[in-house]
Amino acid sequence: AEVSDRLPVLWLHLAECTGCSESLLRTDTPSVDDLIFNYINLQYHDTIMAAAGWQAEENYEEALNKFKGRLILCVEGGVPTKDGGEYLTFGPHAETGLEKLKRTAEAAGAIIAVGTCSAFGGIQAAAPNPTGAVGIHKVLNKPVINVPGCPPSAKNIVGTILYVILFGALPAVDNFNRPKFAYGLRIHDLCERRGHFDAGEFVEEFGDTGAENGFCLYKVGCKGPYTFNNCSRERFNQHTSWPVQAGHGCIGCSEPDFWDAMKPYEKP
Ligand code: SF4
Ligand code: SF4
Ligand code: F3S
Repeated sequence: AEVSDRLPVLWLHLAECTGCSESLLRTDTPSVDDLIFNYINLQYHDTIMAAAGWQAEENYEEALNKFKGRLILCVEGGVPTKDGGEYLTFGPHAETGLEKLKRTAEAAGAIIAVGTCSAFGGIQAAAPNPTGAVGIHKVLNKPVINVPGCPPSAKNIVGTILYVILFGALPAVDNFNRPKFAYGLRIHDLCERRGHFDAGEFVEEFGDTGAENGFCLYKVGCKGPYTFNNCSRERFNQHTSWPVQAGHGCIGCSEPDFWDAMKPYEKP
């Protein structure tokens, strides 16, 4: 489609590690170049835009004005709120992430929280949460679609963006505002090791014969029975693998506060 026909997307990075962007880059259907040249009109993304410095800042502000009310805003990262939000600042005037998020959200037609940081605060919100980091929905007064995971798969990120573009609406969500098409089932429901769980065949410790035989990882801490996500169906890196296939239990990375709530990761 012509650039003018494609919906404008603006990607804002807050307190995060850029792992979610790394995941996005590995999208295969469509590939990331197909995505940005044929499906969306990408206005700003720290990691993959051509502009830098003042020009990048100008592009950002121009996008807010030009596409007011129509932007698809993707946010990667939690937002520090303690002490007025001063633990995250941008640019020469030290605008806080909190301020930048709020005024950017005013120009948005749809807001997608990409990753557990943006959805639920993420690792920087883990106890004792020194910066008062929270998920972005806590400080915005518009609906936020949460696409959690640390990182979420490219399928879930791109799938949510394309859903909004194709249907002109937000997808149906669960009680944590996660799209049901991606987070409707537990990891455990479609896990390839599920037969071993049902047969009572468990890895008792990493490196044992059960591990060699691909037995269930529940006794070494897998949180798949408590985690809603589609990793066991869609996998990562162009359908190559996912945590349980690689031999470690799911650590529940798409659930709220998993850094605190799902630990210890290697015990049931
Ligand atoms: Fe990084 Fe995880 Fe936060 Fe994504 S959700 S930015 S992968 S820490
Ligand atoms: Fe369930 Fe985890 Fe065992 Fe898979 S490895 S069957 S998700 S407990
Ligand atoms: Fe996260 Fe568990 Fe999937 S740790 S990546 S939700 S398998």
